[in-house]
Amino acid sequence: MARGANTKLALMRQIPLFDGLTDRQLTQIGRLAEDIEVPAGKRLATLGETGREMFIIVSGQASVKTSTGRTVRLGPGDFFGEMSLLDGAPRSATVSANTDMRLLVLAQREFSELLAEAPQIGRKIMVTLSRRLREVDAAYSPCG
Ligand code: CMP
Repeated sequence: MARGANTKLALMRQIPLFDGLTDRQLTQIGRLAEDIEVPAGKRLATLGETGREMFIIVSGQASVKTSTGRTVRLGPGDFFGEMSLLDGAPRSATVSANTDMRLLVLAQREFSELLAEAPQIGRKIMVTLSRRLREVDAAYSPCG
C-alpha cells in the first residue's frame, strides 16, 4: 500500500542508512523510494534470478538464505538486494519475509539517483558489504 510523503519521511528518519541527510535530501529520496507492506512468507529475492530492486527494512524481519545454505537474519534498518543492482549479476541469495514487513523499495534507476543525491549512502553500503564479507569469511575459516 502506498503512503503519504510525510509518513514516508518519518519512516526514513528511523533508518541508519539515511542518518546525517538533510531534510531536502530525505525528501528527494522519499520521491525515489516506494513504501510497501508484504505479508510473512513473501519471497522478496530468489537466488539465481535477475534482481531489479533494492529493499530497505522499515519494520519486520527477513531471512537471507545464501548459496552455501547459511541463513542470515535481517531486521529494521538493514537492506538487501543491493548486490544485483551494483554488479548486474543474478541474486546471490534468496530473501524471504519472516514476519509481516514494511519496506522501502528502490528500482535500478532510483538506486543510481539515490547514490547521486547522497554519495555518503554509497559509503555506508560499502561498509555493510565489507562487514558481510568478513562474516562470510569468519563462518568458513578453520577456526570459525
Ligand atoms: P542480491 O544478490 O541482489 O540479492 C540477495 C541479497 O541478499 C543480496 O543482494 C544481499 O543484499 C543479501 N545477502 C547476500 N549474502 C548475504 C550475506 N552473507 N549476509 C547478508 N546479506 C546477504
